[in-house]
Parts: sequence; C-alpha cells; structure tokens
Amino acid sequence: MDEKYHLALKTAFASEFSFYLKAHNFHWNVEGPLFAQLHELFQTIYEEVYGAIDPFAEHLRALQVYTPASLQKFSMLTTVKDENEVPAWSGMLQELLADSDKMANIFRITFDMAEQAGDHGLSNFLADRQDAHKKHSWMLRSSLK
Ligand SMILES: [Fe+2]
Repeated sequence: MDEKYHLALKTAFASEFSFYLKAHNFHWNVEGPLFAQLHELFQTIYEEVYGAIDPFAEHLRALQVYTPASLQKFSMLTTVKDENEVPAWSGMLQELLADSDKMANIFRITFDMAEQAGDHGLSNFLADRQDAHKKHSWMLRSSLK
C-alpha cells in the first residue's frame, strides 16, 4: 500500500508543479484581443497553484517521502504534459482546462488514499487542492464560452 500511495503522491506533486509552470508559460506567452484579461487570469491561477507547492512538498517529507525536485524527475513523474509550442489563446484555455480537470481528479483519488492511510491532515490539504482546481476549471471554462 505504502509504495503505491507514495508514488501516487509524488505523481500528484510533479503534476501540480507542471501545471503551475504551464499556467506561468501561458501568462507570459498569451496573445490576442483578450490579452489583458487572460494574462491576468493565468497569473491568478499560477500564483494560487505555486502557493500550494511548498506545503505539498512538506506534507511528503512528513511522510518520510523524498520530494521530487528536478526537471528530470518531474518529467518522469508528471501526468501534465509540457507545452513546447505557443498555442493560440483559445487553445491555451482548452489545454489548461483539461489539465485542471485532470488535477482535480488526481486529488480526488489521492484524497481517498490519504483517508485510507489515516493521514487526515494530508487528506484535508488534498481536498483543498481538488476544490482549487475545480475553481480554476470554472474560470477557464467560462472564458471559452
Ligand atoms: Fe507577470
């Protein structure tokens, strides 16, 4: 159980870091008639997600799990794929929406694992992450209508 559980947490952590980086990427590189709004929306999202990175890493350490902390480790573990091109603004919204939905689902699953392990402080944190991603998804989805 522990190994599967710890790997799922490391995967969630690497995926969250990748999600943060992609939101920051889009904040920098977005173009188009909605530039000002989207530049700001992507900032709101990357700042919120970045704020969760350090507490997440420290939750892993409290479980005596070493925190993945290199670009190579992140790329081995992440489920959020790098974006190496510069999509059009609507493509950025669609891609980040799909990734945010994916993150909400990852946190739904890891929440259940943390509850089963009796790690209630961590499961609280994971529930909050699921909630935060649902909110990010809402804003991204609404910007596409
Ligand atoms: Fe900026």
